Amino acid sequence: MRTRVLPDYETMSAAAADVVASKLRKKPHAVFMVPTGTTPLGMYRELVARHEGDGLSFARATFFNLDEYLGLPPDHPASYHVYMRKNFYGRVDIEPERVHVPDGFAPDPEAECGRYEQEIRAAGGVDLCVLGIGRNGHIGFNEPGASFDSRTRVVRLAESTRRVNATDFEGDRAPERAISVGMRTISDSGEVLLLASGANKARAVAAAVGGEVSEEVPASALRRHPNVSFLLDRDAASALEGSAARRS
Ligand code: F6R
Repeated sequence: MRTRVLPDYETMSAAAADVVASKLRKKPHAVFMVPTGTTPLGMYRELVARHEGDGLSFARATFFNLDEYLGLPPDHPASYHVYMRKNFYGRVDIEPERVHVPDGFAPDPEAECGRYEQEIRAAGGVDLCVLGIGRNGHIGFNEPGASFDSRTRVVRLAESTRRVNATDFEGDRAPERAISVGMRTISDSGEVLLLASGANKARAVAAAVGGEVSEEVPASALRRHPNVSFLLDRDAASALEGSAARRS
């Protein structure tokens, strides 16, 4: 596992975009798995800028999202479908048929989970999985306690996650449930890049990097992965000790 600490959010986002762009250069038809949320917005901005300015092309790549809220139609303003169209998919040259976001409005959510997992397999598996991290250590919507062997499934969100994510919704809570790819789905990726920014992620990052590998800290599972990097800004790295806090 590699840990890189960058001075601030902008340099962390540019470094994340470098990893994606370099994967694309080596393998234009690469398969990516990507997150939503606040953390990757800078990376998406940077990738859009490189598309517009330098001609970085996503035309042959395939994208899968990690998760979607259950019960939201794809045109709901708080859905991850809308987030991705607005911040990334709608602004670069990605082929619509190579974009995959779980359908949180599917009439049979369990069948949708099976279908999604099958689509990932049919695409040949994920080359690079980009992750954020929850304050409680979640990755995707795999909350503490999620089995390391889990696949795409319907999950119940932690109360703390529902409160943190409430800002996108009327009322004080995000929906109760979501579709999330599983811990095993993530671990099967060829390479994993986890991004974290801000002091409110410092404890989760320290637990994932330096604590026990435990299902209570989902991100700690990544320590068993042969090719994983944590890209952190200084605040997110502030609770790390010693060599794990190496600056770059
Ligand atoms: C969202 C996702 C989540 C977020 C995490 C951090 O697709 O998979 O695991 O990455 O909740 O969210 P932010 O970046 O908003 O702090």
